[in-house]
Amino acid sequence: MIVLGIETSCDETAAAVVTDAREIRADVVLSQLDDHTPYGGVVPEIAARAHLQHLDGLIRRAMDEAGIGFGDLDAVAATGGPGLIGGVIVGVMTAKAIAAARGLPFVAVNHLEGHALTARLTDDVAFPYLLLLVSGGHCQLLAVEGVGRYRRLGTTIDDAVGEAFDKTAKLLGLGYPGGPLVEKAAARATNPARFELPRPMLGRPGCDFSFSGLKTAVRRHVEELGGVLSETDRDDLAAAFQATVAEVLADRCGRAIRRFKEEHPQGGALVVAGGVAANKAIRSRLSMLAEKQRMRFVAPPLRLCTDNAAMIAWAGIERFRLGESDPLNFAPRPRWPLDPDAAPVIGRAGVGAGVKA
Ligand code: KG4
Ligand code: ZN
Repeated sequence: MIVLGIETSCDETAAAVVTDAREIRADVVLSQLDDHTPYGGVVPEIAARAHLQHLDGLIRRAMDEAGIGFGDLDAVAATGGPGLIGGVIVGVMTAKAIAAARGLPFVAVNHLEGHALTARLTDDVAFPYLLLLVSGGHCQLLAVEGVGRYRRLGTTIDDAVGEAFDKTAKLLGLGYPGGPLVEKAAARATNPARFELPRPMLGRPGCDFSFSGLKTAVRRHVEELGGVLSETDRDDLAAAFQATVAEVLADRCGRAIRRFKEEHPQGGALVVAGGVAANKAIRSRLSMLAEKQRMRFVAPPLRLCTDNAAMIAWAGIERFRLGESDPLNFAPRPRWPLDPDAAPVIGRAGVGAGVKA
């Protein structure tokens, strides 16, 4: 089975060709970073126009790299949400057009499911597994029990963790996108223990997260330093922030592991996914935790942690081989929680805070 995947839900335009033998035949990603940088964040209107401008060419490139024509495809999968709706519409309409013209099945993929199932593409992880999904718009702990079977064990009560990275980067004058810049600054720190930050929710019952207090604490330190940071101040604060996030994530995951093991005594891997999973300090902290708990730890390669279309093609394959596809009147969904009993997704408002998944 060979599937074309399309991803356009935020600021990456991407197309990929993947097979059910877990082979990535092509995986092209075009970042719109330069289009959005002057605004300090993703501008939905600019994102949608850029997807429209580039998607056709990227699909052509992916098909050429895979060495196939549309006639060789078994299905077309596109992100159907959640995300910035203008972009999602571009991807969905393009996928529907190819499907209609070629008489192919169309699969609308939940972007979060794309992240959630990536570890099965890269590492053939078996169900069930415990998933920490950490991205620009989400921070969740989920028991993944099968395709479409996600049970939420914890979520953020305020900011998503990627959002906290992005806001902290802004406070530190590091610019956009925040996550990778905070990670680089932290690596340069000379005294990572210099600043003390609160560890929200640490040791509390349950598996929920909270990050807004942490961001406020960073702001207070910036103010105490007179609002002007030397490079050393900035790097030390970035390191303190990153270490605190890693500690909080590990604490919450530790609790979730206990619950997961009670429900699944036969065990399962600890998997991390989403853009923040690209952070090496966080990966190594979680890997230590998994080792202590005698669990397999799986983190996808960095380029498959951040948004891409290989994960969308793969989630399409997982659904399609279970006999699922979507009608051509599928309506793109700006909100689309993974688990059935999720509370409404916490929104992000304003320029520089587009709804990311
Ligand atoms: O999954 P993703 O690419 O897009 C969404 O679906 O949200 O995640 C993007 C988020 C951004 O908030 C970005 O700052 C964060 O992931 N991120 C990182 C790193 N790389 C990306 N956060 C921390 N460290 C990184 N290396
Ligand atoms: Zn994402």
